[in-house]
Amino acid sequence: MYSEKFTESIKAVEAARENNITLEPARMTAQQKEDLLKAYHPDYKEDEFEELKIGPNKGEKVPRELAATLQAHSRIKADEIDLSNPAYDVDVLIIGGGGAGSSAAIEAHEAGAKVMIVTKLRIGDANTMMAEGGIQAADKENDSPAIHFVDAFGGGHFAAKRELLSKLVCDAPDAILWLSELGVEFDKDAEGRMITTHGGGTSRKRMHAAKDYSGAEIMRTLRDEVLNRDIPVVDFTSAIELILDENGKAAGAVLMNMETKELMVAKAKTVIIATGGAGRMHYQGFPTSNHYGATADGLVLGYRAGAKLLYADTLQYHPTGAAYPEQIFGALVTEKVRSLGAKLVNAKGEVFMHPLETRDVAAASIIRECNDRHNGVETGNGLGVWLDTPMIEKIGGEGTIEARIPAMMRMFAKYGIDIRKEPILVYPTLHYQNGGLDITADGMTTNVENLYVAGEAVGGIHGRNRLMGNSLLDIIVFGRSAGKNAAAKSKETTVGKLTLDHVAAFENEIAEAHIETDMVSPKLLPNYTKQNNI
Ligand code: FUM
Repeated sequence: MYSEKFTESIKAVEAARENNITLEPARMTAQQKEDLLKAYHPDYKEDEFEELKIGPNKGEKVPRELAATLQAHSRIKADEIDLSNPAYDVDVLIIGGGGAGSSAAIEAHEAGAKVMIVTKLRIGDANTMMAEGGIQAADKENDSPAIHFVDAFGGGHFAAKRELLSKLVCDAPDAILWLSELGVEFDKDAEGRMITTHGGGTSRKRMHAAKDYSGAEIMRTLRDEVLNRDIPVVDFTSAIELILDENGKAAGAVLMNMETKELMVAKAKTVIIATGGAGRMHYQGFPTSNHYGATADGLVLGYRAGAKLLYADTLQYHPTGAAYPEQIFGALVTEKVRSLGAKLVNAKGEVFMHPLETRDVAAASIIRECNDRHNGVETGNGLGVWLDTPMIEKIGGEGTIEARIPAMMRMFAKYGIDIRKEPILVYPTLHYQNGGLDITADGMTTNVENLYVAGEAVGGIHGRNRLMGNSLLDIIVFGRSAGKNAAAKSKETTVGKLTLDHVAAFENEIAEAHIETDMVSPKLLPNYTKQNNI
């Protein structure tokens, strides 16, 4: 239910819709995009970034909030931890219980490894669960992994590591098959063929979905498989430091029970970081679509152990976060809403961008429309633009919204907004960490042996911008292969003497660089009780 202050603007949107004057501008040229991004995208605000003073990426710039976390103190005193009597001793230790961690666990278990998941909340409390729109795979006759590669490579500003992106797109059809066989109920037509749609930046319809709760459906299936296999899951327990062995190889982690704060040691032949993203760091004060535990923990763990970061200066602001009402501020409004025909329009009912622009371009367009052209709508929480959802039923027929995006319909209905009849207000929300730990195609970090990474904690798969549906894909593709490769590597690994010397050395670096901080990291959970601590 919208209050009267929105009436005039909604009328303009309705008039444009009825008169079919919602013709969209053409796709932008490369130069137009570059100019737009430089002027309006948050990644280009130089004063929001800070140079790292220590660690493997010393001299590079990352978001201010991330720099503070990476260069914070450890939660432990290295010499106070007894490494001689580990509470757990496994082949493959997986840190994180989302889609990537679960996929890795299933494959490592399948390969015969003794595997354990440790997760700071519960298995499935992860961004995977919150993913809505779908998962890309080139498995239709008019498509191919090569075309998928070209779309994603261009969308990521030609910065993706080619070997990672190549693996992503080539393994995609098999990922869909694997998920289907495990029990994921993808949307199908009357003939039983997978229904696929476009996303921003795709030249073929290759988005497979389970309505608009694709991630929840995938996570439900993966979690069932992990539990059915009796893979041990240590929940409400965080990894707070990696342990190396005397040869500098990853060899376990120091764990902390989230309730009792008890510390434990897990020894492992190989370790997989699958800790997910960083939305709860609220970079530049943005709201987020991410789950509660998305606090960049894996980047901190890896960085202190000497692993390099790649593209840690690039984040994804999803163009359509809910801007109204306040109760769902920042929540994801899936890109599928636009794939089904809803247009982004300004306060005057004008369409101001082509609907299939990539996310960074779409987000920057919205910011320009609101902050520079003064065509935004005052929401009470800031500014927003309209996403004209009734267009979907106009194009696809009555019932399309309920059939294809029922979760969106329910989310807004709770607040008296019927998205079949009324447009919704949106503004960019912090959604995805494009950068992360640098890996090779087998999933191992480039410079710490036996340390693997999968999912959103990886940097470089997507370059400097990710297309919709390539994240659910990467957690499966790289989760599975990290699990297989870590299991194989564990068979040929003998762990040397355990050490936390790298933690002590990092503390020395903090002191030598005169970094004055009382912050400890990894952050583990956001703190919404104190001002300025988000
Ligand atoms: O818009 C969405 O449904 C988000 C998908 C994604 O980030 O891949």
